This record gives sequence, structure tokens and C-alpha cells, in this order.
Amino acid sequence: MNQQASPPNAAQTVWLNGAFMPLEEARVPVLDRGFIFGDGVYEVVPVYGGRPFRWAQHLARLERSLDRVGIANPFDPAGWTGLVEELVARHPWRDQFVYMQVTRGVARRDHAYPAGVAPTVFAMSSELLPVPPAQREQGLAAISLPDERWLHCDIKSTSLLGNVMARQAAIEAGAAECLMFRDGFLTEGSASNIWVVRNGGVIGPPRNRLVLEGIRYGLLEELCRHAGLPFELRRIARAEVLAADEILLSSATKEVLAITSLDGRPVGSGKPGPIWRKLYESYQAAKQA
Ligand code: PDD
Repeated sequence: MNQQASPPNAAQTVWLNGAFMPLEEARVPVLDRGFIFGDGVYEVVPVYGGRPFRWAQHLARLERSLDRVGIANPFDPAGWTGLVEELVARHPWRDQFVYMQVTRGVARRDHAYPAGVAPTVFAMSSELLPVPPAQREQGLAAISLPDERWLHCDIKSTSLLGNVMARQAAIEAGAAECLMFRDGFLTEGSASNIWVVRNGGVIGPPRNRLVLEGIRYGLLEELCRHAGLPFELRRIARAEVLAADEILLSSATKEVLAITSLDGRPVGSGKPGPIWRKLYESYQAAKQA
């Protein structure tokens, strides 16, 4: 990736409620329900060489999140696509990631949904820098904690305090990610999905309300199928995670990375394994396709 070619601190232009403006000028009223209640949903979409990657899937998930929380979708698919294309075109970076957020809007503070309020729509794009090769080749350290979040983790909600606290616990332990377990079974990372490799196959937690179904669920399934690797979604007990040959993490911005230590103990060989490497390489190929 051609990091050097991009001005690192290029000014960011954002979209807020119908207009493009410099990031510094974007303002939201304090009674916005996103600020008061965390009452909103969001998306994060990677953009490679100007093209949003897996855009249809990200858009569908945004529509689903809006639908689940009863916020009217402010745009049709063509509207969202046009907005993201224009936002990306306004920035010089080869690879970017677009953040989109829709909140229920501005209203007098009352828990119930207000009537007749327009949602607040915000979008920004940032430079997407690849994970430094040395870090990628070393893999990440992770800790584990009980999953103490709510039971609608499938909604990509801006109410992320549980995730924020889990990530902070990882950072304070000198690790990069926190794997969460609910009733002894793996759910996900604080901002990533987690995969376990056993006997040459990839296993992920089932699609249900306990995890955010990352857009990489479908992608990793495809990559495994093309590589002839077994791929399975099912409940994964903690003992299986601890006995994993490899543990992987996936997200829009981190793609696929190896977790090489968990709670201070090496995972498998303690180095990124062959299944990670295969998926990492095929992921890079999928980005070019
Ligand atoms: N987060 N689970 C959680 C809780 C997440 O926050 C994310 C991504 C994922 C992976 O989803 P995807 O593959 O679609 O990125 C799973 C984004 C990147 C974020 O909040 O910044």
C-alpha cells in the first residue's frame, strides 16, 4: 500500500445533515439523542483504491440496524452510495475507512422515542493505514473477560460502553483486544469477531444476538471455501479456545490478524499460524478483485 503518497494530515471533510463541511465545523446539539442516550447506529466500511469493499453487505447491515431500533432510514441505497462515493472522492488517501452514524435526532430529554424528529446523519472518512508488518507478523496479545454487555449485540449500536470498557481492560493489561465469554462460550472481541482454528478448520460463534455479525463472517466463509478449509459456526466453549491451534480476529479495519497470546499464555506455537497466513493472503487477493 502506498502510505507515503498520502498526505498524513490531510483535512477531513465530513457530512452532517445534508451538507459537507470541515470536520472542525461540524456541530451537533447537546440534546441529540446520540449524545444523551447513545441512541443511534453506525457502520464502518473499508475503502480500497476508492472502492468501498463489500459495500452491499455493509449497507444491508446498516439498514438492519436502523430497522431494529426503529430509526427511519434517511436514504435509499442509491443515496447512501452517492454520499459515500462523494465523501471518499473528497479525500486524497488511497485506502480509507468511512464511518457513518445515524441517531434518532434532537429532542427534549425523554426516554421514549420522540415523534416527528428527523434523524441526525453523520459520515466521515479517515485514512486506512495497514497494520504495520512487524505487528502483523508477531500477532496480537489478547485477554479474556466475561461478556457483560446487553442482549442485542447484533445491532451495530453507538451504545458501546461495554465494548469500550472491555477494550480498556485489554489496553491496561498490555494487550490489544479482549475476548469475551458469555456463560462460558466465546462471543466476540471488543471491536472484532474472533475465530478459532482447530485441526485445520475455522470455527466461529453462531450468528445470533450475542455477537455483531461482522461483514467478515461471510467473507471468511468464502475464503475458507475457496481454500478448501472446513468452516463451521457453532458455540465454542472456553476450553476449546484455550486449546486452539490458532486464534484469529477480524474487522473492517484490521482485516484478519492472528492472536498469539491469550491471558499471557501462547496460543498454539505462539506465532501466527498457517491458516491465518492463508486467510490473510486470500483476503489481500479479495481486495484486489
Ligand atoms: N467494529 N464485533 C464488534 C463488536 C465490532 O465492533 C466489529 C467491528 C466487529 C467486526 O465487524 P466487521 O467485520 O463488519 O468490521 C465485530 C468496527 C470496525 C468499529 O467499531 O470500529
